Amino acid sequence: MSLKAPAGTQDILPDDVSIWRYVEETARRVFQDYGYREIRTPIFEEGGLFNRSIGEATDIVEKEMYGLTTKSGPTSFILRPELTASVVRAYLEHNLHKDKKFQKLYYLGPLFRHERPQKGRTRQFHQLGVEALGSYDPLVDVEIMGLALAFFNQLGIKGSELKINSIGCPKCRDAYRTALKEELGKVKSDLCEKCRERFDRNVFRILDCKNRQCCVTTKCAPSVKEYLCADCTEHFAVVESTLKENNIKYIFDQHLVRGFDYYTKTVFEITHDSLGSQNALCGGGRYDNLVAELGGPAMGATGFAIGTERTILALMASQAYQPENVTIKVFVVAVDEQTRSDCFSFVRELREQDIPADMDYEGKSLKAQMRLADRLKAKYVVVLGPQEIKQGIVRIKDMADGQEKELKRLEVIKYFKSKG
Ligand code: HAM
Repeated sequence: MSLKAPAGTQDILPDDVSIWRYVEETARRVFQDYGYREIRTPIFEEGGLFNRSIGEATDIVEKEMYGLTTKSGPTSFILRPELTASVVRAYLEHNLHKDKKFQKLYYLGPLFRHERPQKGRTRQFHQLGVEALGSYDPLVDVEIMGLALAFFNQLGIKGSELKINSIGCPKCRDAYRTALKEELGKVKSDLCEKCRERFDRNVFRILDCKNRQCCVTTKCAPSVKEYLCADCTEHFAVVESTLKENNIKYIFDQHLVRGFDYYTKTVFEITHDSLGSQNALCGGGRYDNLVAELGGPAMGATGFAIGTERTILALMASQAYQPENVTIKVFVVAVDEQTRSDCFSFVRELREQDIPADMDYEGKSLKAQMRLADRLKAKYVVVLGPQEIKQGIVRIKDMADGQEKELKRLEVIKYFKSKG
């Protein structure tokens, strides 16, 4: 039997880890610069949390969640398919709102959705996200859009596009739903099978369908802007004017809807052309009713999540990442079998002084050890033989220019430290 990682999951091998760390470290730095603090929540949660927040009639809840079974049978636990609900749950459970109502939180970690795997879409994937809980201020919507764009900019990803819309509050949505059904009802037979099904369950999702025929058919759909109440209109006007005042480029996309029921008012996505059909790098928006729906006080909230895998694809397409050269500084070569234990102690001595060092553990010949030092891109090779040990000296070869020198063993640490 050949052992393989499950379909839709990915091993991140040592050569690829450096780009992951670069993306994650940049996210932490930029998020923290904007005043967001990290929160970590469990990988699995009570399933009810997602049914109540994401919504029963969404693709995720209907068919994409992984439930957990133990030896004694099925549990009520679900592998988290997203993190907004978990963050709100933790915020309420630990009374963070009583300490300080307005909290700016960020997270990174894996999520699980049982989707059909394709480029940019996996079953285990990772997100970098922020949630700003406790404010209705439209300026926070703009802060987080600016934050996501600043992050892509810092990474060197060029050509990303911010698309925004408002989906209003439940009041405006009722009116919009009726209008949408009326217009799309006239062309229902031209929609794909999935969308014909969605018509009664969740008509908004039809606007999000990627099927070419549906994209053409839904052009006739009215814009939600015409159905926004005064409060939602005012909120969106401030978002748009603030984006303009701050020279943040955006496209108003009247058909932008999101796959979760918790959104209200502003929604947005950041896309990148290099990604093909799964072109969303980031998705987010305001969710002013979720905290109360999960048992907390009424309060505004907004946030986004960025897909880490897709960010890495876009970063590679932008050719902006220079792979980190992980090198060791000193490779210690044993001249014969007897000196190996001295070499081992010497390597330990170097490492204790924070000097990256290594040696051979495969019984290689002298020549093969030199070749290994070369392959590991060691800056220096130290040769230890019975003579050197007896005399308390070491022979050092600088691999950049081939120059050799002899030093007293006691001087070696100081020498390597001075070499940067
Ligand atoms: P989402 O749009 O489902 O939103 O996911 C955000 C991002 O995660 C997507 O734009 C995409 O880059 C990435 N992503 C989603 N699914 C997959 C997948 N199967 N494979 C690879 N990448 C994927 C949310 O999750 C919301 N919780 C965002 C949010 C936070 N809204 C408010 N606060």
